Amino acid sequence: MIRFGVIGAGRIGKVHSATIAANPKATLAYIADAMPKAAHDLAAKYGAKVASFEEILKSKDVDAILIGSPTGFHADQIQAASKAGKAIMCEKPVSLSVQMIEKTLKVVEKNKSTLMIGFNRRFDPNFAEVERRIRKGDIGAIEMVTVISRDPAPPPADYVKGSGGIFRDMMIHDFDMARFLMGEEFVVVNALGSALVDKAIGKAGDVDTAAVQMQTKSGRIAVITNSRRATYGYDQRMEVHGSKGMIHAKNVHNSTVEVLSDAGYKADPIQNFFLERYGAAYANELNTFIAAVEKGNRNPKPSGFDGLQAQKLADAATKSWQTGKPVKVS
Ligand SMILES: NC(=O)c1ccc[n+]([C@@H]2O[C@H](COP(=O)([O-])OP(=O)(O)OC[C@H]3O[C@@H](n4cnc5c(N)ncnc54)[C@H](O)[C@@H]3O)[C@@H](O)[C@H]2O)c1
Repeated sequence: MIRFGVIGAGRIGKVHSATIAANPKATLAYIADAMPKAAHDLAAKYGAKVASFEEILKSKDVDAILIGSPTGFHADQIQAASKAGKAIMCEKPVSLSVQMIEKTLKVVEKNKSTLMIGFNRRFDPNFAEVERRIRKGDIGAIEMVTVISRDPAPPPADYVKGSGGIFRDMMIHDFDMARFLMGEEFVVVNALGSALVDKAIGKAGDVDTAAVQMQTKSGRIAVITNSRRATYGYDQRMEVHGSKGMIHAKNVHNSTVEVLSDAGYKADPIQNFFLERYGAAYANELNTFIAAVEKGNRNPKPSGFDGLQAQKLADAATKSWQTGKPVKVS
């Protein structure tokens, strides 16, 4: 039985707590949150106890820590949990600073801790199947990966100010997906961006519309497009082209019902945002972590290294957008 302490009882902490409570091999022991009411409400729902982060780390009846606090706390909390000998599942991103991620991974390595990072999209059943079939050789050698990711509506400009920018905040998932599908590291990044959706986002120093091209050492290419607005819902697609064919995953609709008439085909809208669209992915992700901890597998994926590589690509894209030049990635 893997006994969990959940840090952060917000949107994502609630999703992960539900998965822990539903897994017969795990139990939700403690919840910590900077706001006592948030911790109490979630703890009451699952019969868990409320405690501080420090108390949870000291507790002998906690095996694993789930970090769902705001991004600025992740690196310090990973380091503290690692020193306390706990297995760690941390939400993305590890940190907005590559140096801080490197420092954190050194602590994790030194303590031989189990660490998994919440790039949940790898666990979406359709996207996971795309990757399996690519590795099986269904489309031959990969030549080009395309990832399209559009949010239904932009966040408030105030949120954008503290987010690290679209490449670190939103496209970070797509950088990870491009690496996951490609199976080879990218060595150069070229980015364009504009504030076309909300001028206030531009005034806050960010963009809401962005495109990135990346290339691997062997010449394979990835293209990512992001928008903070899509009038038709949460647009999440990908396509991989290879020497023997093409594989793609379409959007998921609210139902499979279609109406056909002389006006054409009418389908239900696509799922509106991440909590619905990636519900299964979040559960598969955490269940994978629980299985890894149970079996003593200390290297579940996505790893801390995956978190680091995605952040390097996000930094390179930000620099490329700012300078108007391609940026090399080490
Ligand atoms: N993988 C994904 O798809 C995904 C989706 C949403 C959020 N996230 C990530 O999860 C993290 C949290 O996002 P959210 O949307 O749940 O935010 P949120 O604001 O809804 O929840 C954060 C919670 O953490 C609490 N908190 C603040 N400081 C804390 C501290 N020092 N220790 C413990 N708790 C603290 C807050 O009171 C709040 O209840 C962010 O890093 C975000 O990037 C990932």
